[in-house]
Amino acid sequence: MGIASIVFGRIVPVLVLLVAIFLGWFATVPMAPGIFFAIMGPAFEKKLPPVLFGHGKMKGTPPVPDDMMPEPRPANEMFQILPSGDKMPSSGIGMCCRGTAYDDVLVRRSVLWYLLLGGRHIDGAHVYLNHKAIGLGIKDAIERGVPREEIFFTTKIFPNFYGYNSTLETVPKWLDETGLEYIDMVLMHAPDLPLARSECKKAGISNKQCRQDTWKALSELKEKGIMRNIGVSNFLPEQMKELQDLNLEPIANNQFQWNAFVPGEQQTIFDYCVENNISITGYYSLGGSLQKAQASTVETLQLLAEKYEVSVSKLMLRWSIQRGTAVIPGTGNPKHMKENLQVYELEISSEDIQAINELRDSEIASKFMYIDPKNWGE
Ligand SMILES: NC(=O)c1ccc[n+]([C@@H]2O[C@H](COP(=O)([O-])OP(=O)(O)OC[C@H]3O[C@@H](n4cnc5c(N)ncnc54)[C@H](OP(=O)(O)O)[C@@H]3O)[C@@H](O)[C@H]2O)c1
Repeated sequence: MGIASIVFGRIVPVLVLLVAIFLGWFATVPMAPGIFFAIMGPAFEKKLPPVLFGHGKMKGTPPVPDDMMPEPRPANEMFQILPSGDKMPSSGIGMCCRGTAYDDVLVRRSVLWYLLLGGRHIDGAHVYLNHKAIGLGIKDAIERGVPREEIFFTTKIFPNFYGYNSTLETVPKWLDETGLEYIDMVLMHAPDLPLARSECKKAGISNKQCRQDTWKALSELKEKGIMRNIGVSNFLPEQMKELQDLNLEPIANNQFQWNAFVPGEQQTIFDYCVENNISITGYYSLGGSLQKAQASTVETLQLLAEKYEVSVSKLMLRWSIQRGTAVIPGTGNPKHMKENLQVYELEISSEDIQAINELRDSEIASKFMYIDPKNWGE
């Protein structure tokens, strides 16, 4: 048998079958994207995915010393003030994507480390599959003296669960999963998802109607006290306007990609939020989880980091905060947690803020990962 007939007669059909099985699984199992990320996150870092091989085997976050007690909150801490009056700390921690975010033992430890080090803002999502471990970390910290009312926990509903009934059914379950009496903020994770299979899709309901139905259900759940604030993520201005037109709860927050390299169109989203009193949380603040090392090679950032005697990471986080966003860099490393909480100590001059703003128009910007929010779906 020739090579061509082996490739086209055996290998290609098997690959096509595997891709078809994968796409079918992805499109029909609601948590398939979460399981996919839970495999790929650790795999990218050459670690065995705990979702397949068991939790507690991964290295990365050391145990918290038994006698460690809460340290003071950071000096000069800054906040985003939400329409409810709640104060969301500007420096938070993200619980997704890096390998250590998918090992429940390390997630529990990192939440405890972070809260004992003075951090108070935790960013999660249903699709990160780690609600339970985050809840246990919060419980551990409360037992060591961190007041629950100081903690701000955000989570997100994934498009596969959108729809009025599905939202009413899904979100309250998270109280049991996390062990919390209330959630501080629930965001709609994205306007839509390619291949999403929500109650709306099955019923042929348009994306716009589906988002509005979901918002209606979230507003009702907020009224019941399940969560204190509701918001969106990766939404474009017109998609936020659809929700505002319902005259239900105000949009408390939009979480989207924000760093010095994102194209100018993200500025339109940013400006819409500012004009509409919608607080902003940026992700990929360090350039994207796979590109933080690349950010350290950008000359402008290197020179400014040297000038202020800080790391490029701290400079980038502070730039975002000074531009008016909250940041949620993920880390399982207590040293990085500490550094990210010291971001309030730095003050970048307006001239240097402008120099960083200008990176967006430089050639280097195109080398950083950018997911166009229009790709999330109409
Ligand atoms: N709404 C959305 O659609 C969406 C999308 C993506 C992400 N998010 C959220 O945003 C969060 C942040 O995402 P991201 O992609 O920016 O980052 P990430 O995936 O959380 O990873 C950040 C990376 O930076 C490293 N790091 C953190 N602090 C550092 C420091 N001070 N110095 C050097 N390295 C540092 C971490 O490594 P170490 O562990 O070694 O510190 C980690 O590898 C996520 O965790 C998630 O909560 C939301």
